[in-house]
Amino acid sequence: MVIAGGFLFTVLLILDLSTAGENPYLEIVTFIAAPAIVVLGLMLFGLSAWLQVRAARRAGQSVRFNLRIDMSDPTYVKSLWMFLGLSAVLLVIAGYSGTRAFETMESVAFCGEACHAVMEPQYVTYHNSPHARVTCVDCHIGPGASFWVRSKIDGMRQLVAVARDSYDRPIPTPVHNLRPAQATCEGCHWPQQFYGSKLLQRTYYRSDEANSPWSIQLLVQIGGDNPRVPAEGGIHWHMLGENTIEYEAADAKRQTINWVKSTSRTGETTIYRNQDVDTDSSPEAPGGEVRHFDCMDCHNRPSHIFLPPAVSINLAMRARTISPELPYVRRVGLDLLNDEYADREEAQHAIATGLHEYYKSEYPEVAATHKQDIELATDTLSQIYSENFFPEMKTDYRARETNLSHFVNNGCFRCHNESMVDDQGRSPASTCNTCHLIVAQGPSESVADLETDLSGLEFEHPEDIDEAWREEKCTECHTPEDGY
Ligand code: HEC
Ligand code: HEC
Ligand code: HEC
Ligand code: HEC
Ligand code: HEC
Ligand code: HEC
Repeated sequence: MVIAGGFLFTVLLILDLSTAGENPYLEIVTFIAAPAIVVLGLMLFGLSAWLQVRAARRAGQSVRFNLRIDMSDPTYVKSLWMFLGLSAVLLVIAGYSGTRAFETMESVAFCGEACHAVMEPQYVTYHNSPHARVTCVDCHIGPGASFWVRSKIDGMRQLVAVARDSYDRPIPTPVHNLRPAQATCEGCHWPQQFYGSKLLQRTYYRSDEANSPWSIQLLVQIGGDNPRVPAEGGIHWHMLGENTIEYEAADAKRQTINWVKSTSRTGETTIYRNQDVDTDSSPEAPGGEVRHFDCMDCHNRPSHIFLPPAVSINLAMRARTISPELPYVRRVGLDLLNDEYADREEAQHAIATGLHEYYKSEYPEVAATHKQDIELATDTLSQIYSENFFPEMKTDYRARETNLSHFVNNGCFRCHNESMVDDQGRSPASTCNTCHLIVAQGPSESVADLETDLSGLEFEHPEDIDEAWREEKCTECHTPEDGY
């Protein structure tokens, strides 16, 4: 077995060194399976020696170990050199395959491809995210041995779950056993270095026949605690210096928050309670698990970003991979993406024929004159689907809330709303310019045509809904069922 394993290792190693690119399966066999055969062989060798000694002792024979060093005996010296030489070769193989096995298990390909079907949603979205060059283990394990060991033990459990096909679909979010952000995110993003504002430009298209555009520019007040610039508060306030926020949530996804305690750097504490939920816990100590608010409570989708179809379609229309000249294309596209499908074949089939059929029956002249546009839009929808929807794992934007906004999911409004009050009836600030200024808005794609004011405009809702947007949360109308 030792020789066979060693031979296998050598052949595979040559294969590995001569092929370009990462291949997780080849690496698993070369650096984990082949050395395992060698180790097993050595263990069997030890075991059989032990069994023989034991049998001999039982039979009444005396077994003596003769550890004498006799450099004057030429046969002895020859055997000794042979023994040392082979041990050295084994040690080198063990050391090299050990480091390569470690590297393999840390690689993005191993995490994403070794367990392909289960990890596919996270792996695909990861590659389209701003963190596509950050390895999985940088966020999921971080530096140091203790979390590494923990993750390997957890990996055993996951291996069993995959082998027995008993894992959850969708995979539950791991926030409970995720490493605190201080050890992962903050290794690359230094909270003291956040300051100033970030300009976001969004173009939307309406569901009318003309797909009318509407644009908004937001100046998001990121803020930070850079000692070289004047104190400015801002969104990263939650993280600044010694400010801390703790909270208790009613559900595992943390979408309903019962209790919030904020402690400012001067030591002042304020406790807010959600009046809409009945809890029997005392204000000082809530009944459930209290979580320390960190980066992942807002940035819960830094890498696995499942875009809602309305957002993907807006982006594609702006980029003209879906032509806004096709009547009702936004609405029809949205319905095609948002339908319930059993698997991706069914979905891709529906998408491939959907637009063609719609225009053939509703707008025959458009179907004739805009053939190429319809073709391109169909390809784009198909690509959007494969990058954001994973029906086999029941994973898409509907299963994965994002907390970084208040538009698609409640996000910031989980705490920043009037129902969350302290003992004096005050709520965390929730006026529209607490977190951002709307600096441009209007019915156009081009910034030049928009109403603009750097000191902030009052929000104008693209559709006339009166003052409803002031009284209701955005998510009461903009729901997943509508494609948001
Ligand atoms: C930039 C940091 C980051 C990187 C890089 C990253 N992840 Fe994640 N991942 C997260 C965070 C944060 C969560 C959980 C968020 C939560 O609990 O809401 C998560 C969740 C997950 C989940 C649970 C399902 C889900 O969507 O919540 C899986 C599975 C996962 N990651 C796998 C991977 C794999 C595989 C890779 C590499 C291909 C990877 N991750 C790379 C930050 C990262
Ligand atoms: C290994 C380093 C590294 C780690 C760890 C890391 N990031 Fe990043 N992050 C980056 C880099 C580099 C960029 C810039 C990518 C770019 O703009 O091309 C980035 C970008 C971002 C952005 C801006 C994204 C955008 O849309 O412009 C956010 C937000 C962010 N990271 C949050 C996080 C959070 C939260 C974590 C922890 C879960 C984290 N990062 C962990 C390196 C890292
Ligand atoms: C209260 C919610 C919240 C918390 C907590 C939070 N962030 Fe942010 N962060 C935001 C928002 C909102 C933005 C701006 C929106 C955007 O970039 O799309 C932002 C922007 C960023 C950016 C992009 C900055 C830029 O100039 O493009 C990075 C990087 C980032 N955050 C990292 C972090 C890290 C690391 C932590 C933890 C130390 C953290 N954030 C904690 C809400 C938060
Ligand atoms: C877990 C509850 C919670 C969530 C979720 C939350 N916040 Fe806060 N936020 C607070 C509390 C509590 C305060 C402090 C209010 C006080 O005591 O004055 C605060 C304060 C702020 C402030 C004001 C800082 C200052 O200068 O006074 C901003 C800006 C802010 N949050 C933005 C955001 C944004 C943006 C999000 C979503 C991405 C968000 N918050 C999500 C609880 C939360
Ligand atoms: C607690 C902080 C906070 C408050 C209060 C707040 N917003 Fe926002 N808003 C955000 C954040 C964070 C984003 C997301 C930025 C991003 O997408 O990166 C956002 C996004 C938006 C967007 C763009 C939506 C999208 O994703 O395309 C609009 C429009 C908007 N807000 C309007 C409002 C209006 C109107 C109000 C007042 C009723 C308001 N906001 C109050 C934090 C806040
Ligand atoms: C009473 C219901 C209602 C509320 C509340 C509401 N909206 Fe809307 N919103 C609509 C309707 C209806 C449309 C038009 C949809 C269409 O044309 O497809 C719309 C359209 C929009 C659009 C244009 C893009 C699109 O999908 O058509 C934006 C941006 C928008 N709303 C932002 C917001 C924000 C931000 C809030 C919260 C501050 C909010 N809305 C609250 C009903 C609502």
